[in-house]
Amino acid sequence: MKRNILITGTSSGVGYEASLLFSRNGFKVYATMRNLKKSEELKKHIKDENLDIEILQLDVTSQSSINSAINIVIEKEGTIDILLNNAGAGFAKTLEETSEEEINWVTDVNYLGVVRTTKAVLPHMRKQKAGHIINITSVGGLVGQPFNEIYCGAKFAVEGFTESLATYVGTTFNIKFTLVEPGGIATEFMKSAIEKTTVDGQLARGEYLPIFEKYLAGSQKRATESNLAVYQTGKEVAEVILQVVNTETPPLRIRTSAWANEFCELKTKADPTGLMLINEVKKNFL
Ligand SMILES: NC(=O)c1ccc[n+]([C@@H]2O[C@H](COP(=O)([O-])OP(=O)(O)OC[C@H]3O[C@@H](n4cnc5c(N)ncnc54)[C@H](OP(=O)(O)O)[C@@H]3O)[C@@H](O)[C@H]2O)c1
Repeated sequence: MKRNILITGTSSGVGYEASLLFSRNGFKVYATMRNLKKSEELKKHIKDENLDIEILQLDVTSQSSINSAINIVIEKEGTIDILLNNAGAGFAKTLEETSEEEINWVTDVNYLGVVRTTKAVLPHMRKQKAGHIINITSVGGLVGQPFNEIYCGAKFAVEGFTESLATYVGTTFNIKFTLVEPGGIATEFMKSAIEKTTVDGQLARGEYLPIFEKYLAGSQKRATESNLAVYQTGKEVAEVILQVVNTETPPLRIRTSAWANEFCELKTKADPTGLMLINEVKKNFL
């Protein structure tokens, strides 16, 4: 029987590529997106390649839209085998320039969205005593970076949330948890992050402006001068996720490129997969 996977944020980037890759590799894919008008490209592939992908509306900021999509999958399949929490939005701005509305939005999409979808699938996975929840964070979920305090805070939150669930829900109910931690990915994400960053047409103001310019120049320099590829394609990240799903004992955390691994090494050297940490926590509490 085909394993099924529900993916959030499939209108572009990693979610779009993962939908195609998983389907081409024998999975039934529920490709969800908040705006169904963005589904044309995916629909073309479904038709041309006869892919087993069903497109559903799901906005991670709306619990009712999450519940509706999950109910459809459960009615059709009886189970959800894999949840891939991919939807997310980049944001880089000084804290002082960030409005409360922006703080709430970045946190809602990147963190609370993951909490909502996970809460909605857990009763089904617990009942079936099987399942795999994969949350895409970032190297920014392990290492705080300039001007990324709101985004990194949300991704750190997903890391803590997932780690906590893995310690008791994971082991008791045979539900696997994995944090996928990419470095840069050449997707719409960068463009939309920069668009959202401008204040009155400028990237930053006052005393922050020279630091922001240095940050942007440094990011470009890093991308062109590093010995390791800083940017991956969405498809390359999707390939790492497919490998994770097909691994008998999947890691709690995995970086998706050599660059991402090197960048996070000071945080991850002692326990690259996070599995030792889970055992340590269990030893202390359970
Ligand atoms: N690109 C990078 O450099 C990078 C690096 C590390 C980690 N990541 C992470 O990788 C994941 C995928 O990002 P990507 O690079 O593929 O970016 P992307 O191409 O911008 O894709 C992001 C997806 O999330 C969707 N989304 C945004 N808000 C949503 C909402 N409220 N409900 C449902 N879907 C929503 C977007 O839909 P719309 O088209 O409707 O906006 C889009 O489909 C994200 O979690 C991101 O944080 C990205």
